[in-house]
Amino acid sequence: MDNAASTPIDKEVIDEMLPYMTCNYGNPSSLHKLGRYSRQGILSSRLKVSKLIGCNISEVHFTSGGTESNNLALTGCAKLIKKTNHSCNQIIVSEIEHDSILETVSNIGKEMKFNVDFVPVDKDGLANEERFKELISSETGLISIMLVNNEIGTIQPIKKLSEIAKSKNKKIIFHTDAIQALGKIPINVKDLGIDLLSISSHKINGPKGAGALYVKRGLNLEPILFGGGQENRLRSGTENVQSIVGFGKACEVATTKLEANENRIKEIQRYTIKRITNEIPYSKLNGSKKQRVPNNINFSFQGINGEDLLIKLDENEIALSTGSACSSNKKQKASHVLKAMGLSHQEVTGSIRLSLGYQNTREELDTTITKLKEIISELRRLNEFEFESKQNNKTTK
Ligand SMILES: Cc1ncc(COP(=O)(O)O)c(C=O)c1O
Repeated sequence: MDNAASTPIDKEVIDEMLPYMTCNYGNPSSLHKLGRYSRQGILSSRLKVSKLIGCNISEVHFTSGGTESNNLALTGCAKLIKKTNHSCNQIIVSEIEHDSILETVSNIGKEMKFNVDFVPVDKDGLANEERFKELISSETGLISIMLVNNEIGTIQPIKKLSEIAKSKNKKIIFHTDAIQALGKIPINVKDLGIDLLSISSHKINGPKGAGALYVKRGLNLEPILFGGGQENRLRSGTENVQSIVGFGKACEVATTKLEANENRIKEIQRYTIKRITNEIPYSKLNGSKKQRVPNNINFSFQGINGEDLLIKLDENEIALSTGSACSSNKKQKASHVLKAMGLSHQEVTGSIRLSLGYQNTREELDTTITKLKEIISELRRLNEFEFESKQNNKTTK
């Protein structure tokens, strides 16, 4: 139940990768046959990725993953702006971005003298459009707003936001982190009207160590890695051929199965949300009910700590997460996303996220709900949590 953190690699993906780890191990920059096989593998993968996001093959640039794509997009863009247009020294991001965006803009702000402004979100985690409009000025050079949030699954209206931004100032470069959107909802970069888009392989049943950055044709992003000039001089370093090939295959599978997976998971999501809401008192669904990816379920439970719940579920072979998933912090910090949505301290610390994968079954969800009920009652008893039933005015322990 933690597929937003990472996913198992598909069997078909592994089969596609294997030859590139055994016989076809050549360096894609080599002129001989082995090199050509590897180059061909990367080219074919580039085509598959481009199909899933609706862009031209030459606009896909492979990276090591989502974090690198985000770093390259923002830092490369800031460097480009400094080189070409010194007056645009404002960057706008939403308050609920992933750390790979927040940390990067903080670094750019300090090191390259950019002002960073944050768009607040409402109680569902949707960007405040009025505030967004107000923040855009003639000095805005770069905007980065995520397509889907990793904690609450809220889908931002990126098409509308990019239209607003471009109508106010044509020169603005618009980036979106689509790492949690890929393979969950249809994506078309042209339709979204954006210039840069980050994606990652291990979130869509591909291997770790591969990701990509869509760069709109004509945008001369500055590199952050230098060397052999791979990836159209944007990302030097010998390509991780087998992971790139696996990523391509995962995109191909996602392209053919997206609709079927989306409908099936949506069904399980609806079922689970309904059961938890009805069967666990003092629970609250976090995030938007409508503008939400089908695989995300985020709940706050009163009278418990999300981490205690996570540990108990882990003892029962059920994996899920609290707060932000993919940071290496040993000590979890309270979710900046839930805080930005205005949740109370209690609601933030009592939250958990279930993120479904196409392999999850309804039976697994039934087991999870049963365990959730048992453990939450036990934790509430231990915490001596008393609550008044709002419906019938009874005090329950
Ligand atoms: C929204 C979002 N952005 C970026 C990342 C980082 O991606 P990666 O793990 O591929 O570096 C994640 C990882 O969970 C994410 O959810």
